[in-house]
Amino acid sequence: MAKLILDILQLLMEYLPLITSFFITLGLVVFLSKSIKKKTYIYYIIFSIPTLIAIVQYVSQIVGHNLDIYKMGILGDIMRINIYMLPLGLPLLLIIMFAGALNPKSYLGRKLLSIRKELSILSGFPVLTHALFRVSFTFPNSFSKLFLVEDPLPSGRIFAELGYQIGIFMTIIYIVLWVTSFRSVRRRLVPGQWKKIHKWSYVLYFLIFVHSILLNLGWIFGGRTPVAAYSRIPEWITAIVSMTLMYLLYIILKIRKSKSAKTDRFSKYF
Ligand code: HEM
Repeated sequence: MAKLILDILQLLMEYLPLITSFFITLGLVVFLSKSIKKKTYIYYIIFSIPTLIAIVQYVSQIVGHNLDIYKMGILGDIMRINIYMLPLGLPLLLIIMFAGALNPKSYLGRKLLSIRKELSILSGFPVLTHALFRVSFTFPNSFSKLFLVEDPLPSGRIFAELGYQIGIFMTIIYIVLWVTSFRSVRRRLVPGQWKKIHKWSYVLYFLIFVHSILLNLGWIFGGRTPVAAYSRIPEWITAIVSMTLMYLLYIILKIRKSKSAKTDRFSKYF
C-alpha cells in the first residue's frame, strides 16, 4: 500500500510537479502547524543548514576549490530541494500568499494565519539559496548579453534573460521583506512603517508569476539543442498552466474575501 502511494506521488510529481509539491507542503504545514508555532527555532535551525552549506559551496568556488555538494548523495538531494524553487520554496511562498486570501475563520485560514510569520521566515532559506545560486550562475553574464549589440540573443532567450533580471529585482524586495519579518527588526520600525513596507509583497507575488512565465517561455522558444527542447516542451507548458491556475485561484479567493469583508462592515451598521 505504502509503495502504491509512493508510486502515485512519484507519477504526480513527474507530470504535475507544482500542484503536487504545493499540496504535499500544504499538508505537512497544516500537520506540523502546532509544532512550528511551539518549536519555531528548531525549524529555523533545520531550514538554515542547507543555506549555510550553499554559502560554503559558493565561497569555496570563489576561492578556487571545486566543492560540488550536488554530487554528494543525499546531501546533494537536499541541496537540490533548496536550490530549485519547485519542491519547497515556491510551495511555501504560495501558501503564505493563500493564507492572506482565505477566510480567517475557516479551518485552513486559521491554521495558516497562526503560523504565517514563521512560514515567511522559513521560506527565506530556500528562496535565498535559490537566489544566491542563480545569481552566481547567471549574473553579470545575463546583463551583458542583454545589452551587447555584437552578441545578440536568440529571440526566444530574451524571455529567460528578462526573467533573470526580474529575479535580481525580486531578490532585493525579498531580502527587505524577509529581514523585516523578524520580530527584533519589526520592533524597531515606527508604527505603520512595517505595513507600508509589506505592501511590496503584492509586487513580489506578481513578479514571481512573471519570472516563472518568462523563464518557461524562454526555455520553450530559446536556444537549447532541438531534441532536448522538444522533449521538455510539455513540461514547460505544464509549468505555465499550473502557475496560471494557482494565481487565478488566488485572485478569486482574494476578491471573495474582500467582498465578504465589505458585507461584514455593511451589516455592522444595519
Ligand atoms: C527572491 C528571489 C527569487 C524568487 C522568489 C524566485 C522564484 C522562482 C520560481 C517560483 C521559480 C520556478 C519557476 C518554474 O519552474 O515555473 C524560479 C526558477 C528559476 N529562477 Fe528564480 N527566483 C528568484 C531569484 C532568481 C534570480 C536572482 C535568478 C537569476 C539571476 C533566478 C533564476 C531562476 C532560474 C534559472 C530558474 C529555473 C530553475 C530553478 O527552479 O531553479 N531566480 N525562480
